[in-house]
Amino acid sequence: KILIVDFGSQVTQLIARRVREEGVYSEIVPFQKAEAAFHEMKPKAVILSGGPASVLDDNAPAAPMPILTAGVPVLGICYGEQTMAQQLGGTVEGGHHREFGRATIEVTDDCALFDGVWQKGGRYDVWMSHGDRVTTLPDGFRAVARATGSPISVIADDKRKFYAMQFHPEVAHTPDGAKLLRNFVRKVAGFTGDWTMRAFREEAIEKIRAQVGKGRVICGLSGGVDSAVAAVLIHEAIGDQLTCVFVDHGLLRLKEAETVVDLFRHHYNIPLVHVDASKQFLGELEGVTDPEIKRKTIGRLFIDVFEAEAKKIGGAEFLAQGTLYPDVIESVSFTGGPSVTIKSHHNVGGLPDRMNMKLVEPLRELFKDEVRVLGRELGLPEIFVGRHPFPGPGLAIRCPGDITREKLDILRNADAVYIDQIRKHGLYDQIWQAFAVLLPVKTVGVMGDGRTYEYVVGLRAVTSTDGMTADFYSFDMKFLGETATRIINEVKGVNRVVYDVTSKPPGTIEWE
Ligand code: XMP
Repeated sequence: KILIVDFGSQVTQLIARRVREEGVYSEIVPFQKAEAAFHEMKPKAVILSGGPASVLDDNAPAAPMPILTAGVPVLGICYGEQTMAQQLGGTVEGGHHREFGRATIEVTDDCALFDGVWQKGGRYDVWMSHGDRVTTLPDGFRAVARATGSPISVIADDKRKFYAMQFHPEVAHTPDGAKLLRNFVRKVAGFTGDWTMRAFREEAIEKIRAQVGKGRVICGLSGGVDSAVAAVLIHEAIGDQLTCVFVDHGLLRLKEAETVVDLFRHHYNIPLVHVDASKQFLGELEGVTDPEIKRKTIGRLFIDVFEAEAKKIGGAEFLAQGTLYPDVIESVSFTGGPSVTIKSHHNVGGLPDRMNMKLVEPLRELFKDEVRVLGRELGLPEIFVGRHPFPGPGLAIRCPGDITREKLDILRNADAVYIDQIRKHGLYDQIWQAFAVLLPVKTVGVMGDGRTYEYVVGLRAVTSTDGMTADFYSFDMKFLGETATRIINEVKGVNRVVYDVTSKPPGTIEWE
């Protein structure tokens, strides 16, 4: 086990993720609770995270001294480095030279952390985000890398197995960061890396049982991977104390509702209430064309319908959600600047406050790809686990302009043909998200001997690792031509197909 002491950095969870990738179990504990956790957990190694404070402030957070005297390997990152250096007798100076973002460091000496990754004399890209710097070394340490503005950027005490760095190795912007962390985990701390998602599953089940006791839980299913994995996991933990509610807003893809109902009721035997609320949703959306009003209307109705169903079920004090770690940090940007709401996502927030329920969020520490691994571990079918993300407001935001049942049907059918093509050509797993959009314009065409005047379908496909940035996918023209022909032949109401070649930024993935 590795204990991660959290000093409040926005990327602490990424450290845990990298450690999990190395097959090692870790626990994140806020610095105030670190001493107790250290004694209880008896970790084989400790990582001190970054954080927004300055060690020069009064009452600056510090690492519990027992951690630094117990003889376990310790890795300090950013604030973790500064507090470590100061606590062990070095000095830290305030920010004459603040470094944020990409920086270059020069390796001045070898050490176990750099083994097989960085060489003496080499210069490497890293990601910095700090104001203070270490100016004199604590006893027993040597400087092994320097950066512009801080001659002491990485420090090492091989005897005590203490290492510390000013940059963030856990973020993707430090290209070799994962390898450096691997060296700490494997070479310095000596872990073999045999922890797996199966262990996560077992621990999560224990935690859910401990939290819920004999209480009742309701879980809203969206048809997406996250809520499905959360529900299956919770059901495994507490069985029929869980009831799932699937609010069908009539904005789902072709056959989606059937798939979800079948999977939960028949495959897993999980109690499921399927609410067909399409009339209500489509009724209230009539004539609504503004994307944000669409989202807000759907979000509000979703809460109304869900709340009414929960009342009918009665007696539940817990609400389960498939919240992932990126949902938690989405509104906070890494560099600390305020982030702007580009699109208001409706699947987090609102519900629990209003319903006065306690949250069960077993996936809160995980990233999307880890949830997929967990889903496979829980036996969810591959076709479900590997599915592209689908937005909460569904097809409403893929139908620019006003929404009608007729348009939704055209869109659903065109989308199904498009996805079928992608699957048939073996491209599905190379694409982050692919979908059709129905444009609110009609254009002239000719079919047989007649003139047609019908809708235009836009096709979208992007590659991405997290949905935050994306590139359009480069299909070959033959594929696109064949897909256009199929859509026009098989879907009544469409006579023209276009492909979207916009990346994000400047575009967004969805059209609304
Ligand atoms: P954009 O369009 O902002 O999408 O580039 C990024 C990712 O978020 C999804 N998305 C949503 N998900 N509610 C959701 O639950 C929403 O309102 C929403 N808008 C976009 C989108 O499908 C993509 O995966």
